[in-house]
Amino acid sequence: MTNTPDLPAFAWPQMEPGWVWLCGAGPGDPGLLTLHAANALRQADVVIYDALVQEAILDWAPQAEHVYAGKRGGKPSAKQRDISLQLVDLARAGKKVLRLKGGDPFVFGRGGEEAQTLIQHDVPVRIIPGISAGIGGLAYAGIPVTHRDVNQSVTFVTGHDQSGNTPGSLDWDSISKGSQVLVIYMGMKHIAQIATKLLDAGRGSDEPVAVVTSATTSDQRVLETTLGAMVDDIAKSGLQPPAIICVGKSVLMRQVLDWQGMALGQRPRNLDPLGRGRPAETA
Ligand SMILES: C[S@@+](CC[C@H](N)C(=O)[O-])C[C@H]1O[C@@H](n2cnc3c(N)ncnc32)[C@H](O)[C@@H]1O
Repeated sequence: MTNTPDLPAFAWPQMEPGWVWLCGAGPGDPGLLTLHAANALRQADVVIYDALVQEAILDWAPQAEHVYAGKRGGKPSAKQRDISLQLVDLARAGKKVLRLKGGDPFVFGRGGEEAQTLIQHDVPVRIIPGISAGIGGLAYAGIPVTHRDVNQSVTFVTGHDQSGNTPGSLDWDSISKGSQVLVIYMGMKHIAQIATKLLDAGRGSDEPVAVVTSATTSDQRVLETTLGAMVDDIAKSGLQPPAIICVGKSVLMRQVLDWQGMALGQRPRNLDPLGRGRPAETA
């Protein structure tokens, strides 16, 4: 392991006092931070971070105050409105504020709400996108979120709504029919209802499913199962959130693309998991 490299020469934006930068920290592996995130971490006076932000990332901002704003380890959950108003207060106090959120701040991360509140209070903001768990986390499991032979569209779905219930407002019938590949965030709590809805809507019980927990971290685990078996398999596996659940044939590509397994010396299980019988690039 080497130390953090210096940022390359570039016209890096300067954080100004009174600004809030809303920044994605990626799914876990600190190496998946963007360079803009690294630049922000070096300049911030205060970093307000969520539960899924790896603490190692905070080491990149030793000069800053670190404020936890997530739910973990039985600590009471910070209310969204309170977090937004805390950002306003810090900015008004002339701090350079870095709001660090897991994955991408605008993907099921309520970053849009925080930015809106800040702007409504005349606080200037900068948005720094991050790698979302539903894309980068699956890539670390060897699952391409799109693959030409499998899908021409992908649907990102949240497994529960603001009240914590299965999103009744979602049209599961259309979701099932609309995309060959579904990527479900926050799906573990309501996995049984989600499985039933997808099966009722016509998805096959033998359809491949992958459950990737703590993706891109040293605790990453991957369960390969099927839509019909996933509820039982998840229960037996003891897997715990955070999890990304991928439904669709792109999961089969893990049989050839499990690059982390190969780095540990495993052989690919199947060089042609989709049974094309021809080179991958052939149209
Ligand atoms: C509130 S959402 C935030 C999503 C985040 N903004 C993103 O773009 O990845 C939290 C959910 O994201 C997913 N998630 C985030 N990080 C993850 C990780 N490292 N491994 C698996 N799932 C993750 C889980 O479904 C988790 O319940």
